[in-house]
Amino acid sequence: MRAWLDSQKVWDVADSLSKMTAISLFSGVGGLELGLSQFFHTLEYVENSPFCTKVLLARMADGCLPSGKVIPDVKDYSPSPEVARNTDAVLAGFPCQGVSQAGCQAGMADERSALVSYVFKTWDKLLPGRRKLLLLENVSALLSRNPGCRGLMNYVIQECNRRGLKLTWCSIRLSNCGLAAGRKRIFLIARAAGVNHFPAGLKEIPFSAWQTPWNPTSTVPMELWLKDELTPEERLRLKSMGNIVVPKQAALGACVLAKMQDV
Ligand SMILES: C[S@@+](CC[C@H](N)C(=O)[O-])C[C@H]1O[C@@H](n2cnc3c(N)ncnc32)[C@H](O)[C@@H]1O
Repeated sequence: MRAWLDSQKVWDVADSLSKMTAISLFSGVGGLELGLSQFFHTLEYVENSPFCTKVLLARMADGCLPSGKVIPDVKDYSPSPEVARNTDAVLAGFPCQGVSQAGCQAGMADERSALVSYVFKTWDKLLPGRRKLLLLENVSALLSRNPGCRGLMNYVIQECNRRGLKLTWCSIRLSNCGLAAGRKRIFLIARAAGVNHFPAGLKEIPFSAWQTPWNPTSTVPMELWLKDELTPEERLRLKSMGNIVVPKQAALGACVLAKMQDV
């Protein structure tokens, strides 16, 4: 895995950037954190799926993700005093079942998507002079006109306003970063007053750095999936692949948001 990562041009581009430290909530298998790993050094992860936790630990062991504790439930999570003192950012691809078209689109009335409130609870526990930004990720329906999605987005905007955070967002398709697929993701940053560039140097990276063609191959046996004959392990793998943020997509999202900070 590390060798594959190193072979990707995209990972070389930002080697010299200064990184921010981060807490990752709803880490899944770490796609967001991997994509942002040249800009953010994750100190702790919060994820309640044992399958995803196993993948996270494997990616730490092979050096793709920074090592850190994995805490199982966001509802019980409180950063240790040391982590709280040393964290600049919270990264969170929060559950999308209350947002996505395949889900119920009930917004904050869906208890899984309503867990987004823990992003703000975690922010409030960080050292006020140190914390710099929140980075949220979700499916494209987050910006749809559906009342549930609108309600959830209004909640995020209000919580950011209450804390004096300035919110910017962008939408990135996989086809924007070299893959022949349309999957779209929304990336939002909420910056504390006075935080202009995250991290320094990121906005200088050209979009083209993330747009190299690529051709991943799936290792999920599709014919077995069609016949509904997957093993429980393959089923979990497929579920986490459905949730994952493709790392390159996250990197391009961060790059776009960095450039938008001047607007
Ligand atoms: C949209 S997925 C995140 C995907 C991730 N960004 C990635 O690239 O793999 C949301 C994740 O939140 C996790 N989750 C749901 N409820 C949770 C809870 N109460 N505490 C911690 N994690 C939770 C799910 O297991 C799922 O992996």
